[in-house]
Amino acid sequence: MGSGETGNPHPSPSGILPSTVRAMKLFVDTGQVEEVRKAAEWGILDGVTTNPSLIAKAGRGFKETVLEMSALVPHGTISAEVVGTTVPDILREAREIASWAPNIVVKVPMTPAGVQATRQLSQEGIRVNMTLVFSPAQALLAAKAGATYISVFVGRVDDISSEGMRTIAEVVDMVNTYDFDSEVLVASIRHPMHVVEAIRLGAHIATMPFKVMEQLFQHPLTDIGLERFLDDWHKAGLTIFEPTPVG
Ligand code: G3P
Repeated sequence: MGSGETGNPHPSPSGILPSTVRAMKLFVDTGQVEEVRKAAEWGILDGVTTNPSLIAKAGRGFKETVLEMSALVPHGTISAEVVGTTVPDILREAREIASWAPNIVVKVPMTPAGVQATRQLSQEGIRVNMTLVFSPAQALLAAKAGATYISVFVGRVDDISSEGMRTIAEVVDMVNTYDFDSEVLVASIRHPMHVVEAIRLGAHIATMPFKVMEQLFQHPLTDIGLERFLDDWHKAGLTIFEPTPVG
């Protein structure tokens, strides 16, 4: 687009950055609608991921939860997971979940049945987030099956004294080398440094618990700096809104 032209015909999911700017997308990983509402209010949320455990923990119906999330993030995606384990069951559940709203991406587990179903679903135009991916070999299968997102878990690997982020590096490299359309989604994030590492590695998406998203804002020097600015301002008796002159 020339410098004289205005408007962006291809807004990003967040509607903030042009599609040519490949900023890492931020998703919240939750089953709680209220957390999605708060994160959406900040204006930086690109999507939501859920899983059966998170939905069960939230204690509400699956469809109503997903529909409310979908309305809160209309320009982003909501990943909602199947629980079937056979090809026919995964296909039946995926078609049902995808019919609920246009911004739903169906989460399908990395199994032979999941890969076979993903191939079929992607041909039908149903977007798939292939989940429970722990190795570059699994990620290759997901990409070849046409997965829109490849959810590579890091925290659960760190939990067993291995390096989850090493797999992210390998999978990002693989997707870029072969020019797959799939986006690498860093999942099972435990703390802000996982997000920083995801940025360094050029991952496409990071999904994180709401608490970690809140932590991204925090820096002690920001708090100290703001306190000093406000102290200096108030001590000098300054004001932004001057009293309206009378008469
Ligand atoms: O939803 C997938 C993933 O983000 C789950 O994370 O914390 O249960 O390992 P976690």
